Amino acid sequence: MNFNFVRLGLVGLSLLVASPAMADMQDDLAEADVSKGETLFKRCVACHTIEKGDRNKVGPNLYGIVGRPVADAPGYAYSTGMKNYGGEWTVERLDAYLLQPRTEVKGTKMAFAGLKSEDDRVDLIAYLNTFSDNPLQFGAAEEENETAEDVKKAEVSGEGEETIEGDFGKLKVAAGVEETYYTCTACHSEMIVAQQGLSREGWEKMLKWMVDEQGMDEIAEPDHTIILDYLTAHYNEDRPNFPRPN
Ligand code: HEC
Ligand code: HEC
Repeated sequence: MNFNFVRLGLVGLSLLVASPAMADMQDDLAEADVSKGETLFKRCVACHTIEKGDRNKVGPNLYGIVGRPVADAPGYAYSTGMKNYGGEWTVERLDAYLLQPRTEVKGTKMAFAGLKSEDDRVDLIAYLNTFSDNPLQFGAAEEENETAEDVKKAEVSGEGEETIEGDFGKLKVAAGVEETYYTCTACHSEMIVAQQGLSREGWEKMLKWMVDEQGMDEIAEPDHTIILDYLTAHYNEDRPNFPRPN
C-alpha cells in the first residue's frame, strides 16, 4: 500500500514536470522550419534513408519514425541497448536522442555526435514527421503541416536561402559545401576531396568511378549537380583551395 502510494506520487510529479516542457516542444514544432530540417537531414543520409520502403544502410530506414516503436525497422540489426530502450519515439525522446545519442540510449551503436542546437532538433523532427502515413499535427491542429512536397517546391523556386553554418573540415564554405561534405565523408575524410584538383569532366568521371568501383550510391538530383558545381568552382585544376598541412 505504501509502495503504491509512493508510485502514484511519482507519476503525479512527473506529469507536473513534463507537461509545460511538452507543450513548449509542441508549440516549437508547430512553428518549425521544415525546409531547414531537410537541410539538416543531410547529416543523416550517410547512414539513413527516409523514403517509405527504402533500404536500411548503416542505420535503419526512418520512414514514419516520429511515433514509431523503437527498433522497428524490418530486417535491421539493432544494438541491445536500443532494443532495451523500448517504447515509442515520441518527439521528446527523439529530441533527447538527437541531442546526446549515447546518453539517452545507453549502448546505442549510432555514431553521431548529436545536434546541440534545440532549434535544429525541432526543425529536423518536424521534417522527419512529414515522412509518415499519419504525420502528427503539432500545436494549432487546423494548420496544414508543410509536406515534403512543399519543401521541394520551395527549393526549386529558390525560397529559403540561408547562411551556411557548421563545421566542414578542410572544405571551403560556399554554396554546396553541405551536400558535398555529408555525401563524401560517409566513406572517407574530406581531405581526400580537398586534395584533388579536377575539371568538371574530371569530377564527373571521379564520381562515376566512386559509384562503379567504390560502392557509392548514385547521387540523386539536385544534389548531383550541386556537388559538381561546388567541386568545379572550388576544386578545379588551378587548385585555389588546396589544403595546407597543419
Ligand atoms: C554514422 C551513422 C549515423 C548517422 C550519421 C546518423 N545515424 Fe541514426 N542511427 C545509426 C545507427 C547505426 C542506428 C541504430 C542504433 C542502434 O541500434 O543502437 C541509428 C538509429 C537511429 C534512430 C532510431 C531508429 C529506430 O528504428 O529506432 C533514429 C531515430 C536515428 N538514428 C535518427 C538519426 C538522425 C535524425 C540522424 C541525423 C541527425 C542520424 N540518425 C544520424 C547511424 C547513424
Ligand atoms: C561509398 C563510399 C564512398 C563515398 C560516399 C565517396 N567515396 Fe570517394 N572514395 C571511396 C573509396 C573506397 C576511395 C578509394 C580509397 C582511397 O583512396 O582511400 C575513394 C577515393 C576518392 C578520391 C581519391 C581518388 C584518388 O585518385 O586517389 C576522391 C577525390 C574521392 N574519393 C572523392 C569523393 C567525393 C567528391 C565524394 C562525394 C561526392 C566521394 N568521394 C564519396 C569511397 C567513397
